[in-house]
Amino acid sequence: MRSKELIIALLSMTFVVSMYGQKNSALLPKLGKDNIEDVINAMTQEEKVYLVVGLGYPPPSGLPIIAHGFAGRTWEIKRLGITTSILSDGPAGLRIDAHPKGTDKTFFCTAFPTATGLSSTWNTELVERVGKAMGNEVLEYGCDVLLAPALNIQRDPLCGRNFEYYSEDPLIAGKIASAMVRGVQFNGVGTSIKHFAANNEETYRGSENALISQRALREIYLRGFEITVKEAKPWTVMSSYNRLNGYYTSENRDLLTTVLRDEWGFKGMVMSDWGGGIDPIAQMNAGNDIIMPGTEQRKILLNALKTKTIDEKVLDRNIAHILNYLLKTPRFKSFPFSGNPDLKAHDLVAKEAATESMVLLKNNENTLPFKKIKNIALFGKTAYHFIVGGTGSGEVNFEHSVSLKEGLTNAGFTFAKSLESIYSRYIDSVITHADEATIKKAADFMSDPSVAKEKVIDFISEMPLSKQDIQKQVQNTDIALITIGRNSGEGRDRIKTDFYLSETEKNLISDVSKAYHAVRKKVVVILNIGGVIETESWRDYPDAILLAWQPGQEGGNAVADILKGKSTPSGRLTMTFPRVYDDVPSAKTFHPESPLCNPQNAFYNEGIYVGYRYYESFKVPTSYEFGYGISYSLFQYSGINIDNPVFKDSIRISVNIKNTGRFTGKEVVQLYLSAPNLEIEKPVQELKAFTKTRLLQPGQSERISFMLDSRLLASFWSGINTWVADKGIYEIRIGSSSKDIRQTVSFSLPEQIKVEKLHPVLYPNLPVKELSRLSIE
Ligand code: BGC
Repeated sequence: MRSKELIIALLSMTFVVSMYGQKNSALLPKLGKDNIEDVINAMTQEEKVYLVVGLGYPPPSGLPIIAHGFAGRTWEIKRLGITTSILSDGPAGLRIDAHPKGTDKTFFCTAFPTATGLSSTWNTELVERVGKAMGNEVLEYGCDVLLAPALNIQRDPLCGRNFEYYSEDPLIAGKIASAMVRGVQFNGVGTSIKHFAANNEETYRGSENALISQRALREIYLRGFEITVKEAKPWTVMSSYNRLNGYYTSENRDLLTTVLRDEWGFKGMVMSDWGGGIDPIAQMNAGNDIIMPGTEQRKILLNALKTKTIDEKVLDRNIAHILNYLLKTPRFKSFPFSGNPDLKAHDLVAKEAATESMVLLKNNENTLPFKKIKNIALFGKTAYHFIVGGTGSGEVNFEHSVSLKEGLTNAGFTFAKSLESIYSRYIDSVITHADEATIKKAADFMSDPSVAKEKVIDFISEMPLSKQDIQKQVQNTDIALITIGRNSGEGRDRIKTDFYLSETEKNLISDVSKAYHAVRKKVVVILNIGGVIETESWRDYPDAILLAWQPGQEGGNAVADILKGKSTPSGRLTMTFPRVYDDVPSAKTFHPESPLCNPQNAFYNEGIYVGYRYYESFKVPTSYEFGYGISYSLFQYSGINIDNPVFKDSIRISVNIKNTGRFTGKEVVQLYLSAPNLEIEKPVQELKAFTKTRLLQPGQSERISFMLDSRLLASFWSGINTWVADKGIYEIRIGSSSKDIRQTVSFSLPEQIKVEKLHPVLYPNLPVKELSRLSIE
């Protein structure tokens, strides 16, 4: 049906083009920097509606295009010099077909760590280099826009796409996204920051209305987008699937025009998510410039033009945004794509990023790095089948990935072979006998079925191992590594049983720990996961826990470098690990089994108290706090200095960081601000700045400085639609995690500052009963 429509559409397009081409060709303007208005004036109404709607899904090639398997295309109108453009996913690397039909050539892309891992580096310079490498693949494979980065807030650990997102905190999400945008766009290709906004859950994403107070929107859910738009100028923004305070985001003028363009100064193109929204006229009016991937909307829009139910000027305005975007694309500039990016160089960047993304959660008695370890017992199916990245549009078709076993082999370790063969038999039989439901979970949205088959293993339960089988390994091996894996993808959220470890997994950890500890041998757990899991019930068993995330194609090598001590871990959590799921502030409203969950309306009752803002303000204990992570080395903080104890327009704070340990390493320095609770209620503290030191040798120091402006002091006061900095005493807390504060200093703000007045928009269409500290204090 779809392809039939498409053929008709193509034929009619050819007709339109040739008819006008014959008539006017000599006088026609050809798209250029200075004649956008003339080009729009020369367009027919038919051409206009074609341009504001994509070419359908899957998009036809029909052009000398190198890449196949991309997500979307825009129309070309040859007679006016309007070229097509190619839009392709996604956040962990370019997603195109590795083995397209009709050629023997391969088109592999580099699988970088997924977004959660990238943000855990807290290293914007490194993320920018990852972006440069990704963007180079976009360019050389003939694409124009990478549909990334994705920076929705990780509101709840069960969101199926958290692996594609950066954090529960908008500042780090915005800064990391900005670095990514700068890196990708350095190549002269575009990005699409997504999903704007509040696509924080998957199961009901196509229809659910997120009900969020204006304050929580401004401070939490829009803030990261605002930072990225202002700091990195992405070429495009992708609106989300969900409704927000009553309207589909792609149909919401307040969001896409008032906030995004008028307030933040966005100059690029807005596209819908694939199939997002239901009313193309409302989308056009709202400022959703182009509807992707594009289906029947053209007919509706053409009819609306003819019957004047839409103002043609609205389309002209949106088309101007599209044409401005097209002018920048490599395809418009006839860039000669090589089809041959430097994958070897990009692999090195992927490895560096993977190494820096890993977070050491526990390291009793300096279990790591390994000392005198040669032969290892590798427990857990994931050890042999390491999870590179998530499923869905965040997937990458890479050439080869290094499993944990391969990485450890490369690093010179040997393994318990009998254990390996037990796991290999299990994995083979699972892949062979996988039922349809499991294959579907693994295959969802995937372009390459052979990869789907491999992924089945991520979605089946862990293999039970008898105590005798465990005992057999103890004598011949020096240490036990246990790998716990989790995978997920778009379209559906994780369920509670995915957050908790299964009985088999827990038994594996406790049985292996008991057996190895009985002979004074150590046990290390490696977490190969895309989002938060429970650790409270089992974390006392092993001696060390390394959170490796879904580390991309170089995962196994990166883990090996850390275990061996070739690299010192320097990743830090960008989200909290709660003790139990019911401690999560959104637990009552998020999950289908939760008491207040409602597929029509998702009430964000926790308001601004998301993640650590909640746990800290309401004194809820956690397993691992925001910002947490252990190094092999030690870092001393000293000499905090503030340039003025009274705030005027800005304030500069500096602090000295010294590596006082025995290992070369980097430290993540985090600045939290505790603001006075005067006119406006505040969380106990909020992250306002961070940096990562350079690689410090033992004994070396670095002086770090941060600058805070009045906007960073301010909270959003909904009643007056203004960012306001309360007068009073502010405390700056600098530390190694949100709880491990090492240096503090205070300053005062003598008078309240009204920093920025904004439009009275985005009111919830139903009342949201928000959590307040005042009601319990
Ligand atoms: C996803 C987007 C993605 C698009 C194109 C949608 O289902 O939500 O993130 O860019 O598909 O693949």
